[in-house]
Amino acid sequence: MIGRLNHVAIATRDVAAASAIYRGALGAEVSEPQDLPEHGVRVVFVVLDNTKVELLEPIGEGSPIAPFLEKNPAGGLHHVCYEVSDIRLAAERLRQDGARVLGDGEPKIGAHGKPVLFVHPKDVGGVLTELEEV
Ligand code: CO
Repeated sequence: MIGRLNHVAIATRDVAAASAIYRGALGAEVSEPQDLPEHGVRVVFVVLDNTKVELLEPIGEGSPIAPFLEKNPAGGLHHVCYEVSDIRLAAERLRQDGARVLGDGEPKIGAHGKPVLFVHPKDVGGVLTELEEV
C-alpha cells in the first residue's frame, strides 16, 4: 500500500546550525529556512535524488515537536513519511489491523498542503510514521 519514502523528519533546536553539515561536508542541496507558523515549525529541506530530509525547529507556543525535544534534548529522528494514494483507505486498513491513528483519526492537511495522518510510534517499531496522500 505505501509507496515512496516522501521524507525523513529530524527535530532540532536550530535548523540553521543543523543544516550546516548537510550543506558543507555532506554536499547536499539545502533550502533556506521557512516558517510554517500554522504547524509550529521552522523547516529546512535537504533535497536528495530519491527523497528529502526535513530539519524541524519548534516555533511559537505548543509546537508539536516541542515535547519530543524535551525528551530528546539533542534532537533526533522525529518521523518518517510514506506516500499513499488513498489516505482514507490507508486509515481504515490501519484501524482494522489495530494500529492507532493519532488525533481523531481523520486526515489533516499537512505541512505540504496535502492530506496526512500519523500512526502511533508504538505500532510502527518505535518510529512516528506519517502517511501522505499524493
Ligand atoms: Co512530515
